[in-house]
Amino acid sequence: MRAILLFLILIQTRGKTIQTCPKYCTCKLGAQAEWLRIKCSNELQNIRDININNVSVELVQLDLSKNNIYTIEANIFKNLTNLKRLNLSQNYITSIDAECFNGLGNLERLDLSKNQISTIDAYTFRKLPNLKRLDLSGNNISMVKPSLFHDLLALERLKLNENKLTTLMESTFLGLNSLKQLDLSNNPWRCDCELYWFSNWIHNSSIKLNPAPKCASPVNIKGEFIKKLKYSENIQCQLLPPTIELRPIHNQVVFAGDSITLKCRAPSITDDRNARLSWLWYPNTTTENADLNAFLDPQKSLPNIKVDNRYLADSGIVDSSLSIVPIKEEHNGQWNCLLVSVNGNRTKAISVIVISEETRYCPLAVTKNNKGIYTWPKTVVGWRAELPCEGNHLSGLMQIPLKASYQCNITGYWENLNTELCPYISHITKSLEQFSKVNLSLTRISLLESAKKFKNFTGNSIKITDPIEVNFITQTIENYLNFLIEGKELGTMLIDVINTLINVPKNILKKAEVSFKSCTRLIKAVEKIIEYTPSIQFYKKNMALEEFRVKRDSFTGLICTWYSNNNPEIRFLQCTTNNRTSPINIKDRTIEASIHLPASLLQYSQEVTAHQLMISVYSNNRLFPKIINNDNMDVASCVIGSKLGM
Ligand SMILES: *[C@@H]1O[C@H](CO)[C@@H](O)[C@H](O)[C@H]1NC(C)=O
Ligand SMILES: *[C@@H]1O[C@H](CO)[C@@H](O)[C@H](O)[C@H]1NC(C)=O
Ligand SMILES: *[C@@H]1O[C@H](CO)[C@@H](O)[C@H](O)[C@H]1NC(C)=O
Ligand SMILES: *[C@@H]1O[C@H](CO)[C@@H](O)[C@H](O)[C@H]1NC(C)=O
Ligand SMILES: *[C@@H]1O[C@H](CO)[C@@H](O)[C@H](O)[C@H]1NC(C)=O
Ligand SMILES: *[C@@H]1O[C@H](CO)[C@@H](O)[C@H](O)[C@H]1NC(C)=O
Ligand SMILES: *[C@@H]1O[C@H](CO)[C@@H](O)[C@H](O)[C@H]1NC(C)=O
Ligand SMILES: *[C@@H]1O[C@H](CO)[C@@H](O)[C@H](O)[C@H]1NC(C)=O
Ligand SMILES: *[C@@H]1O[C@H](CO)[C@@H](O)[C@H](O)[C@H]1NC(C)=O
Ligand SMILES: *[C@@H]1O[C@H](CO)[C@@H](O)[C@H](O)[C@H]1NC(C)=O
Ligand SMILES: *[C@@H]1O[C@H](CO)[C@@H](O)[C@H](O)[C@H]1NC(C)=O
Repeated sequence: MRAILLFLILIQTRGKTIQTCPKYCTCKLGAQAEWLRIKCSNELQNIRDININNVSVELVQLDLSKNNIYTIEANIFKNLTNLKRLNLSQNYITSIDAECFNGLGNLERLDLSKNQISTIDAYTFRKLPNLKRLDLSGNNISMVKPSLFHDLLALERLKLNENKLTTLMESTFLGLNSLKQLDLSNNPWRCDCELYWFSNWIHNSSIKLNPAPKCASPVNIKGEFIKKLKYSENIQCQLLPPTIELRPIHNQVVFAGDSITLKCRAPSITDDRNARLSWLWYPNTTTENADLNAFLDPQKSLPNIKVDNRYLADSGIVDSSLSIVPIKEEHNGQWNCLLVSVNGNRTKAISVIVISEETRYCPLAVTKNNKGIYTWPKTVVGWRAELPCEGNHLSGLMQIPLKASYQCNITGYWENLNTELCPYISHITKSLEQFSKVNLSLTRISLLESAKKFKNFTGNSIKITDPIEVNFITQTIENYLNFLIEGKELGTMLIDVINTLINVPKNILKKAEVSFKSCTRLIKAVEKIIEYTPSIQFYKKNMALEEFRVKRDSFTGLICTWYSNNNPEIRFLQCTTNNRTSPINIKDRTIEASIHLPASLLQYSQEVTAHQLMISVYSNNRLFPKIINNDNMDVASCVIGSKLGM
């Protein structure tokens, strides 16, 4: 009867442009037909069933309470740009997604009470800048993402009562400057150190906490009002190391003439009445300065500084704020908050860069290395630019996205490119890095097996393009050197790897030598392998090795000749003792290198026992790069050498 009556009123007011009230709903029109309120309840399950789009008048209120709605489709309210009140109370909604309330830019009240909501996307309330009242009471919420309410800048009343909340993060209500009423009652609050901030915060704020929430645990303070908790008496947080919080968190760029306020607090200080915060300043932002002695007291060194300290040990408040009004170029620098307490000292710093007409910049720059290509934006001098590592996406396991940084120095030049934390871009580099990190003493059983894999990997199939790769190979070989005693096969395998390294382009090996001494280390490795692999004979295209035991009294000299027959791919090393009459037959042979050791070699040796004599030949000089470029000369031939050991 009532519904029909409303319907008639509608017709009379709207004349020809009349809209039918949507099915299942009752409608109420403003006196001037300037707004419309709709209430729909008929065990409605899907919001789409009421054709909201048919309503052309400004819809200001939509009451969908007491239905059977269990889901809110993305963008379902998108066209209701004038809506001021939305009531979804007493339905069966279990979760809310990021796009649910899109379009409701004018919404002032949202009632989601008495549903079964347990998950709320952190972005759900992003686009409700005018929301004044939000009711989430009577749901199944056990966790609130700390950023959930951050965009509700107009929020005045928030109800979270009758949920399953046990704790809240400190930043949950950050920035909600309009908040006047908060209902957190009837939640199973766990009043431990994690919630210590709350009574602190509520004491200082003018927010009405009504009804007052009570602790549900731990047992000894069950039933106590949260805001009455005393830290030393009720909550023992002393074990926490002192922490300090400095806001803003990130470095700041400020225009000269503006102002800035830095806030520092020591939230875990509970009963140390002597705990003190102080401010320190250092003029350079470029260097990370750890030496606090170099810092200055800003109140003594700079103008326009105002510091406000509060030390209320009873309620556990130790905080300090520093304002610079107005800020000038001379305030550039690192600003450091220092806590001195009985449980230890802590500091935290941010950089403040003041931009004025004289401010200079580093230009846009592109860097490229084995950690990726980075495009650095135009940046104010003294500032360190950061970019996420290009390799981040390659390693899905990374929890925290790693960053590369580049410093724009005070004279406007980029310097100190730091990509150290970034993963290598190339899979080859990454794999070689892995090889170099294997702890061989843990894989001893399959040592040979692992060496085989390494040899196979470094075989001709991979192309070495980066000096760091040579370094990783060298490192891996060095790791294996400790296990040479385990068998001859291992030594030969490592020599095989070095043999293929000789194919690596000259300039890369040279860079590897300059940066990591790789070539020198590889030659040392060869010597060690020969030492531990008696009577080794290794003849390959790029390399040949032999080892002899020689005694002073019987040594008559040695001639070693490296040669190939018709096929230059196959080379042999032939060594003969001097007094043997048959010299090497040079017919049809190409001599690549030769070494003569005279009988007098051991003439002055005091040793009676055998010496170890090593002969090694390399097809080119790549493992002996010329580091000092004082002329244009270079070794173009093979390199042959000998070493006398014990
Ligand atoms: C809504 O409008 C469409 C077309 O504009 C019409 O077909 C439909 O019947 C209307 N629905 C109601 C409930 O008035
Ligand atoms: C909003 O209006 C547009 C255009 O009238 C229509 O295409 C769209 O389906 C509407 N969106 C919803 C969720 O009703
Ligand atoms: C929403 O609807 C319920 C039930 O109809 C009512 O009790 C509640 O007051 C309404 N909420 C608002 C904000 O009007
Ligand atoms: C409440 O949420 C928990 C998980 O957070 C879930 O196990 C439980 O089923 C939910 N209860 C209701 C009534 O939805
Ligand atoms: C305390 O409240 C005042 C005024 O509401 C505010 O300016 C100040 O930042 C608050 N301090 C803390 C530590 O929250
Ligand atoms: C600080 O920066 C200035 C240039 O602004 C420079 O001359 C000075 O050497 C720097 N001091 C230190 C300790 O780095
Ligand atoms: C903390 O700083 C104060 C004053 O500089 C110093 O006396 C004290 O030894 C420091 N405490 C610790 C634990 O370093
Ligand atoms: C900034 O970097 C350039 C180029 O690396 C260098 O010449 C200059 O000395 C640096 N300036 C400072 C203050 O370190
Ligand atoms: C390798 O593992 C052994 C045995 O657990 C350990 O003693 C050694 O320190 C490890 N070496 C490295 C470099 O981690
Ligand atoms: C060497 O690698 C190739 C291809 O990666 C593979 O087919 C072959 O089985 C490997 N050999 C050994 C001995 O692991
Ligand atoms: C070669 O030298 C060895 C050792 O000195 C000696 O025993 C041998 O008789 C010499 N042979 C000839 C042909 O001189």
